[in-house]
Amino acid sequence: MVEQSLWMQKVAADPGHSQWYIERFREMARAGQDLGGEARFVDALASRGARILDAGCGPGRVAGQLAAAGHDVVGVDVDPELIEAAGQDHPGPRYLVADLAELDLPARGVAEPFDVIVSAGNVMTFVAPSTRVEVLRRLRAHCADDGRTVIGFGADRDYEFGQFLEDAATAGFATDLLLGTWDLKPFTDDSDFLVAVLRPGQREA
Ligand SMILES: C[S@@+](CC[C@H](N)C(=O)[O-])C[C@H]1O[C@@H](n2cnc3c(N)ncnc32)[C@H](O)[C@@H]1O
Repeated sequence: MVEQSLWMQKVAADPGHSQWYIERFREMARAGQDLGGEARFVDALASRGARILDAGCGPGRVAGQLAAAGHDVVGVDVDPELIEAAGQDHPGPRYLVADLAELDLPARGVAEPFDVIVSAGNVMTFVAPSTRVEVLRRLRAHCADDGRTVIGFGADRDYEFGQFLEDAATAGFATDLLLGTWDLKPFTDDSDFLVAVLRPGQREA
């Protein structure tokens, strides 16, 4: 067993939290807001018909768009309510409930590694802090050797960008590119968001 994710701790404290989150995105979609920035970014770096893992997919916003663009998508999230909503709102991907700190997709019948792994929407700041390196190790293990892993999250969420990059290196990732937004603005010392494009590198001994 691993420490419970901060997200599920929030849900335990407020059982309406998942439904609130689902409805929030449904409302934004109804209002015509652009919810596709992350999916467009990932689509741009993926080959056609790529195998893509949405790690912490929530109610399926990113996974669904990538499947609609013709990719073979698996969405994984620890919150069963969000996974149920993902199947309803964004059908197409295969959705699975799992904690990323224990991710073992070959054991769930998904044997092939992924060309691209995406983790958008601050997922890394919602995993239990004690599991961060293990989550990154699991993502590394599910990423093809020539694949890429893209992780985005905001500042001031108790996970310093520098610490994250150290943890990613410990987990066996090398950094390809750092950006400050999903629409390709550069990452600077003042950035309040990080989009890190990682590739499998040397694992630490
Ligand atoms: C703010 S939501 C973002 C959801 C989605 N990526 C998006 O951008 O719409 C954070 C998500 O991280 C998921 N999460 C947090 N810790 C997790 C873990 N240890 N394993 C799997 N999912 C996790 C939560 O269940 C939640 O869906």
